[in-house]
Amino acid sequence: MGRGTTLIEAALLGRTPYGCDINPLSQIFVQPRLNPPSLSEIEARLEKINFTGADEWPEKLLVFFHPETLREICALKKYLLGKKNKGALDDVDYWIWMVATNRLTGHSPGFFSVYTLPPNQAVSLESQIKINEKRSQIPERRHVPALILRKSRQLLADLDEPQRHQLSVSAEDSFLVTGSADQTPKISSDSIALVVTSPPFLDVVDYEQDNWLRAWFCDIDISKLALWQIKSLRDWETGMMNVLSEIHRVLKPGGRVAFEVGEVRNGKIKLETSVLKIGLKAGLRPVLVLINDQIFTKTSNCWGVDNLKKGTNTNRIILFQKDAGC
Ligand SMILES: C[S@@+](CC[C@H](N)C(=O)[O-])C[C@H]1O[C@@H](n2cnc3c(N)ncnc32)[C@H](O)[C@@H]1O
Repeated sequence: MGRGTTLIEAALLGRTPYGCDINPLSQIFVQPRLNPPSLSEIEARLEKINFTGADEWPEKLLVFFHPETLREICALKKYLLGKKNKGALDDVDYWIWMVATNRLTGHSPGFFSVYTLPPNQAVSLESQIKINEKRSQIPERRHVPALILRKSRQLLADLDEPQRHQLSVSAEDSFLVTGSADQTPKISSDSIALVVTSPPFLDVVDYEQDNWLRAWFCDIDISKLALWQIKSLRDWETGMMNVLSEIHRVLKPGGRVAFEVGEVRNGKIKLETSVLKIGLKAGLRPVLVLINDQIFTKTSNCWGVDNLKKGTNTNRIILFQKDAGC
Protein backbone atom coordinates (compact mmCIF):
# COMPACT_ATOMS: atom_id res chain seq x y z
CA MET A 1 0.00 0.00 0.00
CA GLY A 2 2.66 2.55 0.92
CA ARG A 3 0.76 5.84 0.96
CA GLY A 4 -2.06 4.23 -0.97
CA THR A 5 -2.09 6.03 -4.31
CA THR A 6 -2.60 2.76 -6.18
CA LEU A 7 -5.65 1.83 -4.11
CA ILE A 8 -7.30 5.23 -4.46
CA GLU A 9 -6.74 5.29 -8.21
CA ALA A 10 -8.05 1.71 -8.48
CA ALA A 11 -11.19 2.68 -6.54
CA LEU A 12 -11.74 5.74 -8.76
CA LEU A 13 -11.50 3.45 -11.80
CA GLY A 14 -14.27 1.28 -10.39
CA ARG A 15 -12.05 -1.59 -9.30
CA THR A 16 -12.34 -3.17 -5.86
CA PRO A 17 -9.15 -2.21 -4.02
CA TYR A 18 -7.34 -4.71 -1.82
CA GLY A 19 -4.12 -3.56 -0.19
CA CYS A 20 -1.30 -4.93 1.92
CA ASP A 21 1.48 -3.30 3.90
CA ILE A 22 3.20 -4.42 7.06
CA ASN A 23 3.19 -0.88 8.43
CA PRO A 24 -0.12 0.13 10.09
CA LEU A 25 0.56 3.71 8.93
CA SER A 26 -0.54 2.65 5.44
CA GLN A 27 -4.04 1.88 6.65
CA ILE A 28 -4.16 5.28 8.38
CA PHE A 29 -3.37 6.91 5.01
CA VAL A 30 -5.58 4.77 2.79
CA GLN A 31 -8.82 4.01 4.60
CA PRO A 32 -10.04 7.63 5.06
CA ARG A 33 -9.37 8.47 1.42
CA LEU A 34 -11.63 5.62 0.37
CA ASN A 35 -14.35 7.05 2.62
CA PRO A 36 -13.89 10.84 2.52
CA PRO A 37 -16.22 12.94 4.68
CA SER A 38 -17.51 16.35 3.57
CA LEU A 39 -15.61 19.53 4.34
CA SER A 40 -18.44 20.78 6.57
CA GLU A 41 -18.30 17.59 8.65
CA ILE A 42 -14.55 18.02 9.08
CA GLU A 43 -14.98 21.68 10.05
CA ALA A 44 -17.67 20.84 12.60
CA ARG A 45 -15.56 18.07 14.15
CA LEU A 46 -12.46 20.27 14.39
CA GLU A 47 -14.54 22.82 16.31
CA LYS A 48 -15.58 20.14 18.80
CA ILE A 49 -12.14 18.67 19.51
CA ASN A 50 -10.42 20.04 22.62
CA PHE A 51 -7.05 21.18 21.26
CA THR A 52 -5.80 22.24 24.70
CA GLY A 53 -6.29 18.98 26.55
CA ALA A 54 -2.87 17.34 26.15
CA ASP A 55 -1.54 15.01 28.80
CA GLU A 56 1.97 14.44 27.48
CA TRP A 57 4.73 16.92 26.82
CA PRO A 58 7.61 15.49 24.76
CA GLU A 59 9.93 18.45 25.16
CA LYS A 60 12.48 17.08 22.70
CA LEU A 61 9.99 17.71 19.88
CA LEU A 62 10.32 21.47 20.41
CA VAL A 63 13.08 21.38 17.77
CA PHE A 64 10.25 20.85 15.26
CA PHE A 65 7.26 22.59 16.81
CA HIS A 66 6.31 25.82 18.56
CA PRO A 67 5.22 24.97 22.16
CA GLU A 68 1.56 25.86 21.48
CA THR A 69 1.57 23.83 18.26
CA LEU A 70 3.06 20.86 20.10
CA ARG A 71 0.34 21.17 22.73
CA GLU A 72 -2.32 21.01 20.01
CA ILE A 73 -0.66 17.99 18.36
CA CYS A 74 -0.52 16.16 21.71
CA ALA A 75 -4.16 17.06 22.45
CA LEU A 76 -5.24 15.70 19.07
CA LYS A 77 -3.24 12.52 19.66
CA LYS A 78 -4.98 12.09 23.03
CA TYR A 79 -8.41 12.63 21.43
CA LEU A 80 -7.78 10.14 18.59
CA LEU A 81 -6.24 7.39 20.73
CA GLY A 82 -8.92 7.86 23.40
CA LYS A 83 -11.66 7.34 20.82
CA LYS A 84 -9.75 4.47 19.22
CA ASN A 85 -9.54 2.66 22.57
CA LYS A 86 -13.29 3.03 22.97
CA GLY A 87 -13.86 1.82 19.38
CA ALA A 88 -15.61 5.14 18.74
CA LEU A 89 -13.67 6.58 15.78
CA ASP A 90 -15.77 7.44 12.75
CA ASP A 91 -14.89 8.41 9.15
CA VAL A 92 -14.45 12.08 10.11
CA ASP A 93 -11.97 11.21 12.89
CA TYR A 94 -10.08 8.86 10.57
CA TRP A 95 -9.84 11.64 7.99
CA ILE A 96 -8.51 14.13 10.54
CA TRP A 97 -6.00 11.52 11.73
CA MET A 98 -4.78 10.94 8.16
CA VAL A 99 -4.35 14.64 7.40
CA ALA A 100 -2.67 15.40 10.74
CA THR A 101 -0.21 12.49 10.34
CA ASN A 102 0.72 13.82 6.94
CA ARG A 103 1.06 17.43 8.11
CA LEU A 104 3.42 16.73 11.02
CA THR A 105 6.66 17.79 9.37
CA GLY A 106 7.56 19.26 6.02
CA HIS A 107 9.24 22.01 4.12
CA SER A 108 6.52 24.68 3.88
CA PRO A 109 4.23 26.68 6.20
CA GLY A 110 1.45 24.21 5.33
CA PHE A 111 3.01 21.78 7.84
CA PHE A 112 2.92 21.91 11.64
CA SER A 113 6.73 21.97 11.89
CA VAL A 114 9.44 24.49 11.22
CA TYR A 115 11.24 23.95 7.87
CA THR A 116 12.58 20.42 7.57
CA LEU A 117 12.75 17.65 4.94
CA PRO A 118 9.63 16.67 2.96
CA PRO A 119 7.02 14.76 4.99
CA ASN A 120 7.96 11.20 4.10
CA GLN A 121 11.46 11.64 5.50
CA ALA A 122 11.36 12.66 9.16
CA VAL A 123 14.88 13.68 10.18
CA SER A 124 16.35 12.78 13.56
CA LEU A 125 16.28 15.29 16.44
CA GLU A 126 20.05 15.82 16.01
CA SER A 127 19.71 16.56 12.29
CA GLN A 128 16.85 18.98 12.94
CA ILE A 129 18.95 20.87 15.51
CA LYS A 130 21.59 21.28 12.79
CA ILE A 131 19.00 22.41 10.21
CA ASN A 132 17.66 24.98 12.71
CA GLU A 133 21.18 26.30 13.43
CA LYS A 134 22.12 26.49 9.75
CA ARG A 135 18.94 28.37 8.85
CA SER A 136 18.86 30.41 12.11
CA GLN A 137 15.28 29.32 12.58
CA ILE A 138 13.04 28.62 15.54
CA PRO A 139 9.68 26.90 15.15
CA GLU A 140 6.90 29.40 14.48
CA ARG A 141 3.35 29.05 15.75
CA ARG A 142 1.26 26.88 13.43
CA HIS A 143 -2.44 26.37 14.10
CA VAL A 144 -3.18 22.66 13.91
CA PRO A 145 -6.98 22.74 13.30
CA ALA A 146 -6.65 25.54 10.74
CA LEU A 147 -3.97 23.67 8.79
CA ILE A 148 -5.97 20.42 8.87
CA LEU A 149 -8.98 22.27 7.48
CA ARG A 150 -6.92 24.03 4.82
CA LYS A 151 -5.34 20.78 3.63
CA SER A 152 -8.71 19.00 3.69
CA ARG A 153 -10.18 21.75 1.50
CA GLN A 154 -7.31 21.26 -0.99
CA LEU A 155 -7.61 17.46 -0.97
CA LEU A 156 -11.37 17.48 -1.48
CA ALA A 157 -11.48 20.36 -3.97
CA ASP A 158 -11.53 18.26 -7.12
CA LEU A 159 -13.64 15.40 -5.81
CA ASP A 160 -17.00 15.68 -7.55
CA GLU A 161 -20.24 13.83 -6.73
CA PRO A 162 -19.85 11.05 -9.34
CA GLN A 163 -16.35 10.35 -7.99
CA ARG A 164 -17.63 10.31 -4.40
CA HIS A 165 -20.27 7.83 -5.45
CA GLN A 166 -17.68 5.69 -7.25
CA LEU A 167 -15.41 5.72 -4.20
CA SER A 168 -18.19 4.64 -1.87
CA VAL A 169 -19.19 1.78 -4.20
CA SER A 170 -15.56 0.62 -4.61
CA ALA A 171 -14.79 1.03 -0.90
CA GLU A 172 -17.69 -1.14 0.16
CA ASP A 173 -15.89 -4.37 -0.82
CA SER A 174 -12.35 -3.07 -0.24
CA PHE A 175 -10.00 -4.99 1.99
CA LEU A 176 -6.85 -3.70 3.69
CA VAL A 177 -4.33 -6.11 5.20
CA THR A 178 -1.80 -4.92 7.76
CA GLY A 179 0.70 -7.76 7.55
CA SER A 180 3.49 -9.25 5.52
CA ALA A 181 3.00 -9.57 1.76
CA ASP A 182 4.27 -13.15 1.71
CA GLN A 183 1.35 -14.37 3.83
CA THR A 184 -2.09 -13.07 3.02
CA PRO A 185 -4.36 -16.01 3.92
CA LYS A 186 -7.41 -13.74 4.16
CA ILE A 187 -7.21 -13.10 0.42
CA SER A 188 -8.83 -15.94 -1.51
CA SER A 189 -6.93 -17.90 -4.16
CA ASP A 190 -7.65 -17.04 -7.83
CA SER A 191 -9.49 -13.84 -6.85
CA ILE A 192 -7.33 -10.89 -7.96
CA ALA A 193 -7.19 -9.41 -11.47
CA LEU A 194 -4.18 -7.12 -11.06
CA VAL A 195 -1.44 -6.75 -8.45
CA VAL A 196 0.62 -3.54 -8.43
CA THR A 197 3.51 -3.62 -6.02
CA SER A 198 6.71 -1.84 -5.15
CA PRO A 199 8.68 -3.68 -2.47
CA PRO A 200 11.56 -2.20 -0.47
CA PHE A 201 14.62 -2.04 -2.71
CA LEU A 202 17.08 -3.99 -0.55
CA ASP A 203 17.90 -1.65 2.37
CA VAL A 204 17.89 1.62 0.38
CA VAL A 205 15.13 3.20 2.50
CA ASP A 206 15.12 3.17 6.29
CA TYR A 207 11.36 2.96 6.89
CA GLU A 208 11.81 2.94 10.66
CA GLN A 209 13.83 6.15 10.76
CA ASP A 210 11.70 7.86 8.09
CA ASN A 211 8.52 7.20 10.06
CA TRP A 212 9.59 7.64 13.69
CA LEU A 213 7.63 10.84 14.29
CA ARG A 214 4.47 9.61 12.58
CA ALA A 215 4.77 6.38 14.56
CA TRP A 216 4.97 8.43 17.79
CA PHE A 217 1.84 10.39 16.81
CA CYS A 218 -0.06 7.23 15.86
CA ASP A 219 1.21 5.23 18.85
CA ILE A 220 2.85 2.56 16.69
CA ASP A 221 5.92 0.70 17.95
CA ILE A 222 7.67 0.66 14.62
CA SER A 223 10.71 -1.25 15.93
CA LYS A 224 8.45 -4.26 16.51
CA LEU A 225 7.36 -4.47 12.85
CA ALA A 226 9.12 -6.97 10.61
CA LEU A 227 9.68 -4.27 7.97
CA TRP A 228 11.89 -5.60 5.18
CA GLN A 229 15.16 -3.69 4.92
CA ILE A 230 17.25 -6.51 3.49
CA LYS A 231 20.91 -5.95 2.79
CA SER A 232 21.87 -9.14 0.99
CA LEU A 233 20.55 -9.78 -2.50
CA ARG A 234 20.19 -13.50 -1.77
CA ASP A 235 17.99 -12.87 1.26
CA TRP A 236 15.97 -10.32 -0.72
CA GLU A 237 15.45 -12.89 -3.49
CA THR A 238 14.23 -15.44 -0.93
CA GLY A 239 11.74 -12.92 0.49
CA MET A 240 10.53 -11.90 -2.99
CA MET A 241 10.20 -15.56 -4.04
CA ASN A 242 7.75 -15.99 -1.17
CA VAL A 243 5.90 -12.82 -2.18
CA LEU A 244 5.65 -13.80 -5.86
CA SER A 245 4.44 -17.29 -4.93
CA GLU A 246 1.75 -15.70 -2.77
CA ILE A 247 0.84 -13.33 -5.59
CA HIS A 248 0.60 -16.30 -7.93
CA ARG A 249 -1.82 -17.95 -5.51
CA VAL A 250 -4.16 -14.95 -5.25
CA LEU A 251 -4.14 -14.03 -8.96
CA LYS A 252 -7.01 -15.16 -11.17
CA PRO A 253 -5.97 -17.15 -14.23
CA GLY A 254 -5.14 -14.47 -16.81
CA GLY A 255 -4.41 -11.98 -13.98
CA ARG A 256 -1.32 -9.79 -14.03
CA VAL A 257 1.26 -8.39 -11.65
CA ALA A 258 3.21 -5.17 -12.20
CA PHE A 259 6.27 -5.40 -9.96
CA GLU A 260 8.26 -2.19 -9.64
CA VAL A 261 11.90 -2.06 -8.59
CA GLY A 262 14.39 0.78 -8.52
CA GLU A 263 18.04 0.95 -9.34
CA VAL A 264 20.27 0.11 -6.37
CA ARG A 265 23.98 0.24 -5.52
CA ASN A 266 24.60 2.75 -8.35
CA GLY A 267 23.08 0.40 -10.90
CA LYS A 268 25.51 -2.41 -10.06
CA ILE A 269 22.67 -4.62 -8.89
CA LYS A 270 19.83 -5.07 -11.33
CA LEU A 271 16.84 -6.12 -9.24
CA GLU A 272 14.73 -6.71 -12.35
CA THR A 273 17.02 -9.58 -13.34
CA SER A 274 16.32 -11.19 -9.96
CA VAL A 275 12.59 -10.52 -10.22
CA LEU A 276 12.37 -12.05 -13.71
CA LYS A 277 14.17 -15.19 -12.52
CA ILE A 278 12.04 -15.51 -9.38
CA GLY A 279 8.76 -14.76 -11.16
CA LEU A 280 9.42 -17.56 -13.65
CA LYS A 281 10.13 -19.93 -10.74
CA ALA A 282 6.87 -18.88 -9.13
CA GLY A 283 5.01 -19.92 -12.30
CA LEU A 284 4.44 -16.46 -13.80
CA ARG A 285 5.01 -15.56 -17.46
CA PRO A 286 6.98 -12.34 -18.11
CA VAL A 287 5.13 -9.99 -20.50
CA LEU A 288 7.40 -6.93 -20.55
CA VAL A 289 9.93 -4.84 -18.64
CA LEU A 290 9.29 -1.10 -18.72
CA ILE A 291 12.27 1.14 -17.93
CA ASN A 292 11.69 4.61 -16.56
CA ASP A 293 14.88 6.66 -16.84
CA GLN A 294 14.13 9.63 -14.66
CA ILE A 295 15.89 12.93 -14.46
CA PHE A 296 15.79 14.72 -11.09
CA THR A 297 12.89 14.97 -8.74
CA LYS A 298 12.07 17.69 -6.23
CA THR A 299 12.84 15.17 -3.51
CA SER A 300 16.30 14.45 -4.84
CA ASN A 301 16.99 18.19 -4.83
CA CYS A 302 15.85 18.46 -1.21
CA TRP A 303 18.38 15.74 -0.40
CA GLY A 304 21.06 17.75 -2.16
CA VAL A 305 21.29 15.12 -4.92
CA ASP A 306 21.98 16.89 -8.20
CA ASN A 307 23.88 14.23 -10.05
CA LEU A 308 23.22 10.65 -11.03
CA LYS A 309 25.49 9.20 -8.38
CA LYS A 310 23.11 8.87 -5.42
CA GLY A 311 19.52 7.82 -4.88
CA THR A 312 17.26 5.85 -7.17
CA ASN A 313 17.80 7.16 -10.68
CA THR A 314 15.93 4.65 -12.80
CA ASN A 315 13.17 2.22 -12.06
CA ARG A 316 11.69 -0.74 -13.83
CA ILE A 317 8.30 -2.38 -13.92
CA ILE A 318 8.24 -6.09 -14.64
CA LEU A 319 4.85 -7.23 -15.89
CA PHE A 320 3.94 -10.90 -15.43
CA GLN A 321 0.85 -12.88 -16.28
CA LYS A 322 -0.57 -15.95 -14.61
CA ASP A 323 -1.60 -18.16 -17.49
CA ALA A 324 -4.62 -20.42 -17.16
CA GLY A 325 -3.57 -23.87 -15.97
CA CYS A 326 -0.19 -22.66 -14.57
C1 LIG B 1 9.11 1.01 -1.84
S1 LIG B 1 7.87 1.22 -0.61
C2 LIG B 1 6.60 1.36 -1.63
C3 LIG B 1 6.08 2.66 -1.44
C4 LIG B 1 4.97 3.03 -2.38
N1 LIG B 1 5.32 2.69 -3.74
C5 LIG B 1 4.79 4.51 -2.18
O1 LIG B 1 5.12 5.26 -3.07
O2 LIG B 1 4.40 4.89 -1.08
C6 LIG B 1 7.75 -0.33 0.13
C7 LIG B 1 6.64 -0.55 1.12
O3 LIG B 1 6.80 -1.90 1.59
C8 LIG B 1 6.35 -1.96 2.92
N2 LIG B 1 6.87 -3.21 3.50
C9 LIG B 1 8.06 -3.45 4.05
N3 LIG B 1 8.15 -4.74 4.44
C10 LIG B 1 6.98 -5.34 4.10
C11 LIG B 1 6.45 -6.65 4.23
N4 LIG B 1 7.15 -7.63 4.79
N5 LIG B 1 5.21 -6.90 3.77
C12 LIG B 1 4.47 -5.91 3.21
N6 LIG B 1 4.91 -4.64 3.06
C13 LIG B 1 6.15 -4.37 3.50
C14 LIG B 1 6.86 -0.68 3.53
O4 LIG B 1 6.13 -0.37 4.71
C15 LIG B 1 6.64 0.31 2.37
O5 LIG B 1 5.40 0.96 2.49
